[in-house]
Amino acid sequence: MKPALSKLGQCTALQPISWLMQTALTRPKLISLAAGFTDNATLPTQISKRLLSDILRSPGSGQPALQYGITAGEKNLRRLTVQHLQRMDGAGAGSKTHSPDRAMITGGSQQLLYMTLEALCDEGDIILVEDPTYFVFLSILQSRGLRARGVRLQRDGIDLAHLEAVLQRLKRSGELRRVKALYLVSYFQNPTGASTSFAKKRQALALLKKFERAAGHPIYLLEDAAYRELRFAGDDIRSALLAPGAVDRVIYTGTYSKPFAPGARVGYGILPEPLFTAVQRIKGNHDFGTANLLQQLLARALQTGLYEKHVAKIEKRYGQKAQVMKQALAEHFPSSIEIWDSNGGLYFWARLPKGISAGADSQLFRAALKNDVLYVPGELCYADDPARRKPDNEMRISYGNAGERDIREGIKRLGAVLRKHLSK
Ligand SMILES: Cc1ncc(COP(=O)(O)O)c(C=O)c1O
Repeated sequence: MKPALSKLGQCTALQPISWLMQTALTRPKLISLAAGFTDNATLPTQISKRLLSDILRSPGSGQPALQYGITAGEKNLRRLTVQHLQRMDGAGAGSKTHSPDRAMITGGSQQLLYMTLEALCDEGDIILVEDPTYFVFLSILQSRGLRARGVRLQRDGIDLAHLEAVLQRLKRSGELRRVKALYLVSYFQNPTGASTSFAKKRQALALLKKFERAAGHPIYLLEDAAYRELRFAGDDIRSALLAPGAVDRVIYTGTYSKPFAPGARVGYGILPEPLFTAVQRIKGNHDFGTANLLQQLLARALQTGLYEKHVAKIEKRYGQKAQVMKQALAEHFPSSIEIWDSNGGLYFWARLPKGISAGADSQLFRAALKNDVLYVPGELCYADDPARRKPDNEMRISYGNAGERDIREGIKRLGAVLRKHLSK
């Protein structure tokens, strides 16, 4: 009998990362440097216990928290979130982009990314992405029949000349009218750790604008700032919300998962009209509002200053763990491997000499697994793009979840596998 599944049900492939995670769970001795999980030891258990107990102490505050809320999110949390963003961006109170009316609270920023694509794209539409980019975003594109075109990534963000060349090529082929957005993971990017300078965001937005007439509709800049607050060195970079023309072209997504608790799974975004209304209606069908209790938890954390204190604590912790990984990489990795390090986030990016495959089917990956260490093959982070072959000589290595001892031991194991492999 034919399956009764919808096209979406049939087309949604297993995420490539799922089997990696499954492998990690079934092998207790394995050190996983693959997961994008956050640090267990610093998860805010005591802060959460205190704040939840405050919320539930009286019916006056407890009952609304245990009731359904508003689709776009709790008013107070939207206000506090915008204030938080204003502080990070150094934006004045009069900023048109930083307004609670344009802010939405979602079930993680993942939900917002998904709904934004639902609101924006039809099958066959094109999203421009960094090459490489966040693989779960690529999975959404795959599942919904959308196409991606890669824009080369440099240490300070996308290659603007390449962005222009890609747009020109799409114009020539008559496909520009299918281009809906440019997706940038602009802070300590997943998977490379690269951050996009404000100048580049501004210029990218201006370039998109230049091609809009030929496209026949707006081309949005979708800025995913998931890792923005995991910054342990350097200065913050202003968001694209401050770029000229941002008010009706920039979609900004952020999250309280990484800096606070992925288990609470509260994300947020700033959306221009008519997207805000469209996404709000779609969210009305998804869940008509993110879990109220969790929104209240975040609102209290922000309001009491405990959130900020916690972020300061974890920044230190990630800084230490990154340093441990950096030292281990210097000690154990062959010098022919190019390492991208970062001032924040959860990842190092390693590029092996050309011709050496680190892909999921490679000997190297199998040897790493045999030696009980797991990394994310970089090729999983490249979109299907007919204009180039997917590089397979890269790996994403995370210090997010592993403790310091496991980071040292994991890199030592991986280094030994690499040395053996490169000397062949
Ligand atoms: C780049 C990026 N964006 C968004 C997300 C989604 O995070 P959340 O849904 O927890 O906010 C992740 C999670 O790993 C991520 O790496």
